Amino acid sequence: MIPLIDQALDDYATRHSEPPSQLLRELEAYTRVHCQNPEMVIGSLEAALLRMLVKLTGARRVLEIGLFTGYSALSIAEVLPADGHLVSCELSPEHAGIARTFLDRSPHGGKVDIRLGPALATLEQLAGPFDFVFLDADKENYLAYYQAVMPKLRSGGLLLADNVLWSGRVLQPREDTDRAVATFNDAVQRDPRADNVLLTVRDGVMVVRRR
Ligand SMILES: C[S@@+](CC[C@H](N)C(=O)[O-])C[C@H]1O[C@@H](n2cnc3c(N)ncnc32)[C@H](O)[C@@H]1O
Repeated sequence: MIPLIDQALDDYATRHSEPPSQLLRELEAYTRVHCQNPEMVIGSLEAALLRMLVKLTGARRVLEIGLFTGYSALSIAEVLPADGHLVSCELSPEHAGIARTFLDRSPHGGKVDIRLGPALATLEQLAGPFDFVFLDADKENYLAYYQAVMPKLRSGGLLLADNVLWSGRVLQPREDTDRAVATFNDAVQRDPRADNVLLTVRDGVMVVRRR
């Protein structure tokens, strides 16, 4: 991933944002040592943004697409109210197993319901409505996820999609994945149901508010 801003400035922004819990630090360190592509973890700055938006919207029913080892899920669960609930879709049993192990060590882990399997199939079985959605799985399906989820997002609810600048490759898409991310951004921009802003945080975060 190509950093969008100078690393020292990114570190400064991270140091001046809500820090992660000790368990989140451990989870990130474990992922770095034991998992392939540990850079998929959103990290503490983006997690602070997610947590802020979850709190601002008073979200109770959250959907995540792309659990990995559970960093974003645990970050959100920690700020959900006691009766809050997060459904997280994940394809890999190995990733889900690591996430469950860490979630089970948190007093907030019981709020997270992991659904194993291809997320598009899982979404068909979920009724909604959701207050908050975090989209962070395979980029080729971003638009399909968006189309499946928007009808289940309550009016005033938020959807955040990660990696929407795709290390800058959206500017000159060459590969299918580049085109998928660019197509997703264009579709959101044209969607009459959406208020949206593309934040240049980390690898780009699209924030969508359902009208
Ligand atoms: C970028 S990672 C998610 C990172 C996570 N949000 C975090 O902060 O640690 C994407 C995850 O999506 C999962 N994934 C990929 N294709 C999927 C699919 N079709 N259905 C469900 N999950 C999928 C991958 O196994 C991977 O764990």
